[in-house]
Amino acid sequence: MPPTRRRFLAALGSTGTALLLPNQGVAAQSDEKTAPVLTGVRLEPFVDPLPIPPVLRAAAGTSKSQHHRITLSEFQQKVHRDLPATLVWGYEGCTPGPTIEATRGETVTIDWLNKLPERHRLLIDPTLDGAGEGVPEVRTTVHLHGGHVSSSNDGYPEDWITPGHEQRTVYPNRQPGATLWYHDHAMGITRLNAMMGLAGVYLLRDPEEDRLHLPSGSRDIPLVLQDRTFDAGGQLAYPVSGMPQCPSVPEFFGSHVMVNGCVSPYLDVEPHLYRFRLVNAANSRVFQLSLLPGQEFIQIGSDGGLLNQPVVRDELLIIPGERVDVLIDFRGREGRRIMLVNDAPAPFPSGRGLVPAWVMQFRVNRPLNPEPERAEIPETLATVPRLREDSAVKTRRLQLVEVMTANGQPHRALLDGKRFMDPISEDPLNGSIEIWEFVNMTADAHPIHLHAVHFQLLDRRPFAVRPQQDKPEIVWTGKPIEAPPEERGWKDTILCPPRQATRIIIPFSGEPGKFVWHCHMLEHEDNEMMRPYLLRG
Ligand code: C2O
Ligand code: CU
Repeated sequence: MPPTRRRFLAALGSTGTALLLPNQGVAAQSDEKTAPVLTGVRLEPFVDPLPIPPVLRAAAGTSKSQHHRITLSEFQQKVHRDLPATLVWGYEGCTPGPTIEATRGETVTIDWLNKLPERHRLLIDPTLDGAGEGVPEVRTTVHLHGGHVSSSNDGYPEDWITPGHEQRTVYPNRQPGATLWYHDHAMGITRLNAMMGLAGVYLLRDPEEDRLHLPSGSRDIPLVLQDRTFDAGGQLAYPVSGMPQCPSVPEFFGSHVMVNGCVSPYLDVEPHLYRFRLVNAANSRVFQLSLLPGQEFIQIGSDGGLLNQPVVRDELLIIPGERVDVLIDFRGREGRRIMLVNDAPAPFPSGRGLVPAWVMQFRVNRPLNPEPERAEIPETLATVPRLREDSAVKTRRLQLVEVMTANGQPHRALLDGKRFMDPISEDPLNGSIEIWEFVNMTADAHPIHLHAVHFQLLDRRPFAVRPQQDKPEIVWTGKPIEAPPEERGWKDTILCPPRQATRIIIPFSGEPGKFVWHCHMLEHEDNEMMRPYLLRG
């Protein structure tokens, strides 16, 4: 059993109570020495109600298009009862920003007004591509993650704007309903802008879903997960490397989990069926979630929309950038307190460091006037056709590697051995289908994300590396492992475990132009694990 799991169970067994679990602080740190971790303050879980970000949608009756002006600014926000307000960045004065709700086929135009300060609050690493001498400190560009948009509306990393300027994006929403999200994507500082709070949810609703009678209204709730570390003054603590000339760290793992911008909150629920849209908006952390006392999740959707059928799951693994759409059935649970806990497993090295266990708590009320349940758990959801391998016109084998720089500086993570500035090598033809095979040579799991498309997972295959003089040789050590049911829907971010080749099949279609593909661990992304790709017309 991995040490995190053992510690977790032991603590529960000995005390039976949440508050005494040593999930934070020095005790938890002692057996994991690999990641740079700031321990931060201890905070009591489940003392603040879950915040629900405000919703922006079209005014009633005008549902062909909507237009919003959204201001990016710096402000203070309370993240926990026992902490003074934290200085953060956000959209429209909150982080996560407002939830933007659109209906399939409705055009959404947004003017993003950058009113952030001129100086960054976190330390910039000028040795990273695009963040060097002469580049303004504070820059932003907003990307709609999972949106099928044109290149000029995609928030290309180099299309940043400085304070005092605005960026206009147009989202056509011609894709199946899904849980999308928006966040900053500025070249070389995405990890810092995201850490400050620049992220929000974008719910694309689909009239197709109406016939399913899924929970709706106040029983359809986005849950944005982010790990953070706070100093005693309540301010964000983000680590720096030991080298002043290149302060960036290879990964970030915080000591607490925030849900919708609040540390380990609680939510009062009715004994009914609920729908939760989980978004992993953490910089680097993989979450493995379960409910205590034991209860299952009914997963209905993934990144790109609904699955074919619901999948019952005891545990949810959710990687940075990924979304999981689940139902939780609180019927018959009156009076219970159910905890959502994280126990990122040891085999995924990107979950290492402190393992904050408490995500949130559900308090199931005993209603005075119980109402009948109107929502249902459907038997079938959507029709996601399986793409056939032989429909692909090209297969690209792309290695994920980590290297030391020549002067012994911290490692860079690279996609196929190339840096962002190297000439474009991935240039799929619009309308064609390709297979991309991510051969992960590193010891880390990487969440790989492609912009502007959705794809399907084919399989993952374990391999070993036989060292050769100059070119290491790959030796398969097992058969391909087929995509499990929960990964058979449309994906835009895929887990690439270490020493496995992960194959995805991608239908490229849209407006030709330049996009990016990258690792969604933001520290990796900023440190060269991002590449442009050209959708050729
Ligand atoms: Cu969620 Cu390129 O990003
Ligand atoms: Cu990575």
